Amino acid sequence: MKFFVDTADVDEIRELADTGLLDGVTTNPSLILKSCRNIMEVTKEICGLTDGPVSAEVTAMNYDGMMSEAAVLAEIADNVCIKLPLTMDGLKACKALATQGHQTNVTLCFSATQALMAAKAGATYISPFIGRLDDMGIDGMELIEDIRTIYDNYDYDTQILAASIRTVNHVKDSAIAGADVATIPPSTLKALVKHP
Ligand code: G3P
Repeated sequence: MKFFVDTADVDEIRELADTGLLDGVTTNPSLILKSCRNIMEVTKEICGLTDGPVSAEVTAMNYDGMMSEAAVLAEIADNVCIKLPLTMDGLKACKALATQGHQTNVTLCFSATQALMAAKAGATYISPFIGRLDDMGIDGMELIEDIRTIYDNYDYDTQILAASIRTVNHVKDSAIAGADVATIPPSTLKALVKHP
């Protein structure tokens, strides 16, 4: 299983990258805001800390806006992965960017049919939001299991990136359910090694 860290805090990323156990980074507009830094500048620095993919998210709601933002983000570094929302415009942008050879992460996935659409759009990663589903009283792990079955049925290459991870057990259960990647907040990632 690959581990991405879900943060835009460069000190945390550097510390985790130094362990040799980090496979990539995911960011989102809230995390960038929390870093109090310019998105271009901080994303460039993060891309230099890992050889793995660094997800940088568009904020536009429509196809044209997403494509313009993606063109700017893709210029930052070769390991930028364009993060797009799971909407019809986001899927259309995903298809276009995948055709151009870009890595994509389709985010805010809450259902198996949404994940199926993302695979059809050629997404590199699909991000089901485990914690947010749990918040609504829906079992996030069932979604991971369903996506695993669907992707295996049709040999889709899209990787399941378990997101909105809040606990050590979320990581364990995602691994059991067959997620390819978990993107984990720094404190939870460090807690994986602990046991009373
Ligand atoms: O990976 C997505 C994440 O940043 C959202 O997490 O805990 O706000 O649902 P959370």
